[in-house]
Amino acid sequence: MTTLQDRFGRSIDYLRVSVTDRCDLRCSYCLPKGFKGFEEPANWLTFDELERVVAAFARLGTRRVRLTGGEPLLRRNLPELAGRLSALPGLQDLSLTTNATQLAHQAHALRAAGVNRLNVSLDSLQRERLHTLIGRDGLPQIMEGLASAREAGFAPIKINMVALKDVNDDEVEAMAAFCIEQGFVLRLIEAMPMGDTGRAAGFLDLQPVLGRLRERFGLVPQSSELGGGPARYWQTPDGRFTLGLITPISQHFCATCNRVRLSVDGTLYMCLGQEARYALRPLLRAGISDQGLEEAIREAIELKPERHEFRERPDKLVRFMSMTGG
Ligand code: GTP
Ligand code: 5AD
Ligand code: SF4
Repeated sequence: MTTLQDRFGRSIDYLRVSVTDRCDLRCSYCLPKGFKGFEEPANWLTFDELERVVAAFARLGTRRVRLTGGEPLLRRNLPELAGRLSALPGLQDLSLTTNATQLAHQAHALRAAGVNRLNVSLDSLQRERLHTLIGRDGLPQIMEGLASAREAGFAPIKINMVALKDVNDDEVEAMAAFCIEQGFVLRLIEAMPMGDTGRAAGFLDLQPVLGRLRERFGLVPQSSELGGGPARYWQTPDGRFTLGLITPISQHFCATCNRVRLSVDGTLYMCLGQEARYALRPLLRAGISDQGLEEAIREAIELKPERHEFRERPDKLVRFMSMTGG
């Protein structure tokens, strides 16, 4: 079976698909309040176009697809798209990253449509604090969403917590206790300097936090597969608690990068931290053949940079995380 290879010998078999750039929240490290620069709906790829691109990737060896946003559950009829993608030959893993505000009424439909894994963003368990962080009093809805996701049988459910200095760093232990109680995997994430919002976030080096948590919970490194992403995992010996760390700044993971991103306007972004990109929408709308589309994807993969430069050039990226879905 062929797999896409980039110039640095990495196999690219994970595609992140942003299905909308809009979001109902305004997480302080992501989108500015009052942001208006969203993409025109006329430029959004349709479900047919999305399915065509994902099918081409699948023929080229992509095994995992993650649906992202903005907030993906804001895209109308998302379970229909999920069903179409999960039925594509070759795809083994269809997952979703969501803020969970709309999850309560969609969890069962998404599960039935073949989404098997769910990552949920949640940065605080304190209602007021979360309100300030995400720009909305969202905790009750998010908790309902998580309860529905559990009922619907998603496994694992991972909680994504962006750890921010002097904002929520005092809550890491409380979040760990919550995840143990609920059976969720906790993932701590270092804030990346994407857009002014990302740069203004209080970056927190997670290495000392890991030291603290390892000691407190007796965590040992865990090697089994828990997804296709950049997190490194630790676990308690009884398996009740799993912690993942995503450390793009203190210990980057670009050497093993396996992914590219498709934004809702049909642009392939070759790296989260670089501008390298390739526009597929004009080709799709000019009637390109399936073979031509595969060629275009191969050409795009040639553009994939070696690594991000978040440390060396933190002012580089003007685009917000919501454009490419993380
Ligand atoms: P799994 O398939 O469950 O491993 O998902 P994931 O961790 O790859 O995806 P998720 O959407 O939950 O992303 C969690 C965090 O990792 C977000 O902050 C993403 O921005 C970040 N992330 C995901 N992929 C990359 C990457 O290639 N580079 C960098 N720097 N960060 C990434
Ligand atoms: N740095 C790190 N993670 C971020 N996310 C959003 N913006 C940033 C940032 N600047 C996270 C969200 C979500 C995931 C897709 O990306 O919290 O969990
Ligand atoms: Fe929305 Fe996710 Fe950005 Fe928060 S981090 S504003 S939930 S896109």
